[in-house]
Amino acid sequence: MILIEPASLKDLNDLRNLEKICFPVDNWPLLDLIGVLTIPGIVKIKAEFSGKFVGFIAGSVKQKEKTGWITTIAVMPEFQNQGIAQQLLKECESRMNVYIVKLTVRKSNSKAIRLYENNGYFQKEIWNSYYIDGEDAILFQKMC
Ligand SMILES: CC(C)(COP(=O)(O)OP(=O)(O)OC[C@H]1O[C@@H](n2cnc3c(N)ncnc32)[C@H](O)[C@@H]1OP(=O)(O)O)[C@@H](O)C(=O)NCCC(=O)NCCS
Repeated sequence: MILIEPASLKDLNDLRNLEKICFPVDNWPLLDLIGVLTIPGIVKIKAEFSGKFVGFIAGSVKQKEKTGWITTIAVMPEFQNQGIAQQLLKECESRMNVYIVKLTVRKSNSKAIRLYENNGYFQKEIWNSYYIDGEDAILFQKMC
């Protein structure tokens, strides 16, 4: 049974581990991880399997514009392809409660791109050399 529930600062070590495994090139520094788990206005959700931290998503809400940004999503490799990212995405969208959800993804990340397209996101723009290693980003958007 996968449990989808809010994350907190108690999940810092698990989140750090997940980030290192899932984002080998550009995982977030410790301060950003503390920020994402503590700043009000950020929706943070984890996936657990038998008490083990197996996935995470964060969404930053801009209330004035009724817009949300998915800032990170990741699932432990051994738990991928079971629909966990999709569950995290749906829960985050629902808790953000906004009209528009946006996110960026590496042009080469075909798995994540499929996830977003299968969940109603469409490609809006290309941001050239957006990532630290020079890769382009695709800006995706969804109207909720
Ligand atoms: C991108 C990522 C979050 C997807 O996580 P995931 O949990 O594997 O995603 P899902 O399981 O919801 O969907 C993945 C695939 O599994 C399939 N799937 C869903 N439920 C399934 C099930 N019960 N049985 C078998 N396959 C299933 C989906 O149809 C999808 O197939 P597709 O890739 O052919 O379209 C994950 O690969 C990851 O953490 N990558 C590294 C970090 C990253 O790149 N994050 C995105 C940054 S923008």
